[in-house]
Amino acid sequence: MAEPSVSQRERLEALLEEKRIYPPSEEFRKQANWSDPAVYERARKDPEAFWAAEAKNLDWIKRWDKVLEWKAPWARWFVGGKLNVTHNCVDRHAASSRRNKAAIIWEGEPGDSRVLTFEMLQREVNKCANALKSLGVKKGDRVAIYMGMTPELPIALLACAKIGAPHSVVFGGFSAESLRERINDAQAKVLITADGSWRRGGVVPLKANADEALKGTPSISKVIVLRRIGDKTPCRMEPGRDLWWHELVDHASDRCEAEPMDSEDILYILYTSGTTGKPKGVVHTSAGYLLGVSVTHRAIFDVKENDIYWCTADIGWVTGHSYIVYGPLANGTTSLIYEGSPDYPDRGRFWEIVARYGVNIFYTAPTAIRTFMRWGKEWPEKYDLSSLRVLGTVGEPINPEAWVWYHQHIGRERCPIVDTWWQTETGMIMITPLPGLTATKPGSATKPFPGIEAQVLDEKGQPVGPGGGGYLVLTRPWPAMFRTIYGDPERYERQYWSRYPGKYFTGDGAKLDQDGYFWLLGRVDDVMNVSGHRISTFEVESALVDHPCVAEAAVIGKTHEVKGQGIAGFVTLKENVKPSDDLKKELREHVAKKIGALARPDDIFFASELPKTRSAKIMRRLLRDIAEGRVLGDTTTLADPGVVAKLKQQYEEEGIVD
Ligand code: WTA
Repeated sequence: MAEPSVSQRERLEALLEEKRIYPPSEEFRKQANWSDPAVYERARKDPEAFWAAEAKNLDWIKRWDKVLEWKAPWARWFVGGKLNVTHNCVDRHAASSRRNKAAIIWEGEPGDSRVLTFEMLQREVNKCANALKSLGVKKGDRVAIYMGMTPELPIALLACAKIGAPHSVVFGGFSAESLRERINDAQAKVLITADGSWRRGGVVPLKANADEALKGTPSISKVIVLRRIGDKTPCRMEPGRDLWWHELVDHASDRCEAEPMDSEDILYILYTSGTTGKPKGVVHTSAGYLLGVSVTHRAIFDVKENDIYWCTADIGWVTGHSYIVYGPLANGTTSLIYEGSPDYPDRGRFWEIVARYGVNIFYTAPTAIRTFMRWGKEWPEKYDLSSLRVLGTVGEPINPEAWVWYHQHIGRERCPIVDTWWQTETGMIMITPLPGLTATKPGSATKPFPGIEAQVLDEKGQPVGPGGGGYLVLTRPWPAMFRTIYGDPERYERQYWSRYPGKYFTGDGAKLDQDGYFWLLGRVDDVMNVSGHRISTFEVESALVDHPCVAEAAVIGKTHEVKGQGIAGFVTLKENVKPSDDLKKELREHVAKKIGALARPDDIFFASELPKTRSAKIMRRLLRDIAEGRVLGDTTTLADPGVVAKLKQQYEEEGIVD
């Protein structure tokens, strides 16, 4: 495991200087869903009773026998219980006075829009569920989903959950190869995709990518294709394999019984980057996950019955799964979905949407906030943002300047900000303010949610006191925790639970302050966080060495003003290959093609040699020092300290290529 980087230590020092405090206003506190601080103590004393009391807000087919069975690291929550997630997210609301309430408000990038009430959503979900059944999909079969942000995406997720088929959503920005790898790991039977998706006025060619992926996916027997773009994009349909959504789904029956699911039956698999090897299939199960995301959504965003809630994430990531689809819909909340990019047709698009629909709760990523800052306050200033009541952030540490800008220019100094720390693995938000209770500090995710326990530990597993930095661990099981890595339980144990036995190792650095607030410092492993997207250095290195000109590659995340981290690749070329700017471009495109545009390196640097230890391990720490223009750290373990000194000089002479 890598030690905290120098940039993390710098962040830590800067944060210690941050003294601003924003207590909740009296007005907000009075109307908040959760405003009694006793909830923390109650949950701490008896977490199982706390979760069980909350679980009564769900509809159960059969009540559980036991709240938790915990044989670290294996957890089973609500043992013996049965329910159906889609029944809880859709059917029970469609059968209630919420029947005609908007479940989903959708805004397409070109300006088209659609509103689905709970009853309309129920019908669409049932049709899709029946279509899947007609293709032979049964409880337990995996369905891969590779779509843009159209209403059919949450419909597809909910249809899978209704019939008990675990879904595996692959973000539409991933390449054909990434899609293929994920389909094969999950052994998915059916793929749901679209001809394309709108992005910044252009088309993401989803079906063409899928066709490429499907050349090597023997488990897939059928493909359902949504027509989103139409004539503007070519879309070849393979006879016998590919079926149009509008032919198959639209004609299916709109009635479908919900499959009774055991609490611990798999709801979905979602792939995420780890330190080594292939992306990991994070497995989430039914009851505990649904409970975790619904309780946190209600408490943290202070959602009210008539609120319009907008989370700007993509459903291809966990934030979209938990806080666009499952959490909000379980609570009967109106969830807004926007298809496209924030600068189309202009940089006011998000604020125009907030104003037009009267969005009350807005949840986005620090990288987006930094982008808005760069575009200038004149954009949000043009719009009436008075409907906003709570603001959230997620995905990476937020710098205090961005926090304060968000508070002033979006929240107009009225809205509490919830900086929510969590991970694909945790399924639900873990460290966060409660907006009616917590005095916030810009840059701190504040405290663990009630029922959650976190610690900051040193290398030896000793708790680090206030002011010091260490490794963030979670010391108690929680309902929405992932249960395993799909097909690789050994990796689940080794990677997350063996470093500090019985404790969950997050891979993040953190510090505690005098008030017991947590300040997140970023990853301490070889995972980069680029615009809130998790990418492992290993994946990018593998893509680089896959290019015929490359001999060796080392990749690091380098501090970037807007993206949080940018990707820098240090590459040695094969003999007789000449370095050139064209080759740099080609290598960047090669990575984008192999993994997806999100992994395209910002800089490529040609080195004649890479700094290695005597045991031939590449020292990325030193490469980070070079890329971030710092004095080199300890070089005594290097096989040849001359290599790194030369590299530093060469790097400084050449400057940075963007
Ligand atoms: C980072 C996204 C600081 C962290 C939900 C974590 C954060 C990784 C925050 C998980 C936050 C997420 N403050 N860091 N509020 N939220 N992170 O799996 O490094 O895509 O380990 O889940 O994002 O990323 P993932």
